[in-house]
Amino acid sequence: MSPSAPGSRLASKLGLTDRVFAGPRSRRLLKTVEAGLVRVDENLGQELHITDPLADVTSRYLYEAGGKRVRPMLALLTSQLGDGVTDQVVEGATALELTHLGSLYHDDVMDAADKRRGIPSAHAVWGNSIAILTGDLLFSRASQIMARHGERAIRLQADTFERLVLGQMHETVGPQDSDDPVEFYLQVLADKTGSLIAASAQVGVTFGGGPVEFEEPLATFGEKSGVAFQLLDDVIDLSADPDETGKVPGTDLRAGVPTMPYLLLGQLGDESSASLRERIDDGVARIADGGDPALLDEPLAALREHEATRATLDLAHRWSQEAIDALAPIPDGPVREALTRFAQAVADRSS
Ligand code: IPE
Ligand code: IPE
Ligand code: MG
Ligand code: MG
Repeated sequence: MSPSAPGSRLASKLGLTDRVFAGPRSRRLLKTVEAGLVRVDENLGQELHITDPLADVTSRYLYEAGGKRVRPMLALLTSQLGDGVTDQVVEGATALELTHLGSLYHDDVMDAADKRRGIPSAHAVWGNSIAILTGDLLFSRASQIMARHGERAIRLQADTFERLVLGQMHETVGPQDSDDPVEFYLQVLADKTGSLIAASAQVGVTFGGGPVEFEEPLATFGEKSGVAFQLLDDVIDLSADPDETGKVPGTDLRAGVPTMPYLLLGQLGDESSASLRERIDDGVARIADGGDPALLDEPLAALREHEATRATLDLAHRWSQEAIDALAPIPDGPVREALTRFAQAVADRSS
């Protein structure tokens, strides 16, 4: 990653690696994971030469903008429970990061998000069709990589991708009358984000020759951390500082995509929560009719300071603790320590 890329600036702001590898027992592990991340990045760079000049430009666009590489980092970490960073682990981490990358192209179309990784989103540059097709290309590339590693790898990829897509689909359609909106939303988060983070935590063991009995606890750990991560994303979506997040604040809510703070407003049931929710609904409706998105600036600022946002942070901490609890079968040592710190860091981030 080039140090000047906006995405890597964001990564350094998150300081994820510093936090995950804090402590004297982690120094060697940090070196190993950093070296592994360089290999994954090189591999990503190679896989993103599709040879078609247009496809190369569009598919490299968001890759070159940076990103935190959270998923490869987890795969590299858990590989240490087996044979370490083998070629196969690097390939698995690459395929999952490509899947993540492809999902970002599609997600920004669906969410009508203008910015990603600090730069204009792909659809804002080339239009929806090219953004969707680029995402599709990245998914194909991910499958091609997994296909080199046999049926188990293809199955992991297909099952993970299916869950991710179903999560996005359920989010789009929304809860039915019989669904509890908060429970429904948590399931959406587990599917759209938790599934890929679960696969990333698992793949290091599956591809790295680690003990089979670690696969399930690591997948549970990844999924629950993913939910905590995404709950923080909802809080960050309200952040007033786009320089810190690389995204336009309130993108999801302005586009009418409900997030946890908004849903909890509905659950709190007091008059001020109900009236804030009404103001947000009203703003969303007026924006949908062509109104100025700034209509929601004031209600979103109020939501940021509201108890519902505090409650979202508490919820993120609970999911993070459950992720840590899932690590019980993993032997005590630097890997488990780093995974624990990871779960704590994702529930306590500002970008
Ligand atoms: C963003 O994921 C999309 C979600 C699933 C929340 P990341 O926050 O990991 O995005 P990058 O890769 O660092 O840009
Ligand atoms: C992204 O979720 C999930 C996937 C890409 C599968 P969001 O839409 O909530 O994430 P951001 O805020 O755009 O990164
Ligand atoms: Mg989005
Ligand atoms: Mg989305």
